[in-house]
Amino acid sequence: MRDEQVSMGFDITTPNVARVYNYHIGGKDNFAVDREVGDQILRLVPEARESGREHRAFLRRMVKYLTGDAGVRQFIDIGSGLPSAGNVHEVAREIDPTVRVVYADNDPMVVLHAKVLIGATSTTRILEADLRDPDTILASAAEGGFIDFSQPVGLLLLAIVHHIPDSDDPARIMGRLRAALPPGSYLAISHFCNPGAERPEDAELAAASERLFTEKFGTGRWRTPEEITSYFGDFRLLEPGLVPLPQWRPETPGGWKLSRGFYQFIGGVARRDS
Ligand SMILES: C[S@@+](CC[C@H](N)C(=O)[O-])C[C@H]1O[C@@H](n2cnc3c(N)ncnc32)[C@H](O)[C@@H]1O
Repeated sequence: MRDEQVSMGFDITTPNVARVYNYHIGGKDNFAVDREVGDQILRLVPEARESGREHRAFLRRMVKYLTGDAGVRQFIDIGSGLPSAGNVHEVAREIDPTVRVVYADNDPMVVLHAKVLIGATSTTRILEADLRDPDTILASAAEGGFIDFSQPVGLLLLAIVHHIPDSDDPARIMGRLRAALPPGSYLAISHFCNPGAERPEDAELAAASERLFTEKFGTGRWRTPEEITSYFGDFRLLEPGLVPLPQWRPETPGGWKLSRGFYQFIGGVARRDS
């Protein structure tokens, strides 16, 4: 096993957050150790699979909106995860094939898959980079004028900020990223949520989920809606605000009766007006 680990360049004996998520959304890029933890999560939150798929559907609706109605032509997707159906560049290019996308992730296996399956092209750039070092991500995205920071940018932080512990100061990181975005830019965030006293049962489930993630992955913070809202700074949160993902501009209205697990994962999109 050791030799295998060394020759493959990544550890297949420890569960990995990108691969467990890949398992939940029906992907094939995961190992036995990931499926085992994935099943443990499903026992705690039976909706984790549907919730993961709803998350990808949110990504699709949101990128379609940003490329179509909002006219964004360049995106930075940090914590992009293992490529799966409906990656950002694929959704955006249904509207405009010239849209440029930077994918960044700190997991070498994710980056390897992205390089093989998406590839670096004139319109896609793939970075092995850590959200905790936003300046490096911004500088690499701008290199050679790939992302033009004088024009609106769509910055996507989907299911990643909850992997930044409080000790790494997510507020500072978010402030730095927002400051780099010119007016007309958009920031999309999805995040694990602990709704607190307002929904005590969900709060209990959130606390149990946080314990499981911390034990298995070493990260995973279920933050309050107020904390998550603060990451948008003075950007204007678009309707319908920060909501369970199926409620963010559904294509077929009224289709979802949300059960407990869905309140664990909320998201929204905000615009920098000036
Ligand atoms: C659950 S996946 C989300 C994938 C994708 N954004 C989506 O929403 O479908 C979280 C991703 O964040 C990445 N990640 C976690 N912490 C990170 C960090 N500090 N810097 C960069 N990427 C990180 C993981 O490697 C993983 O690929």
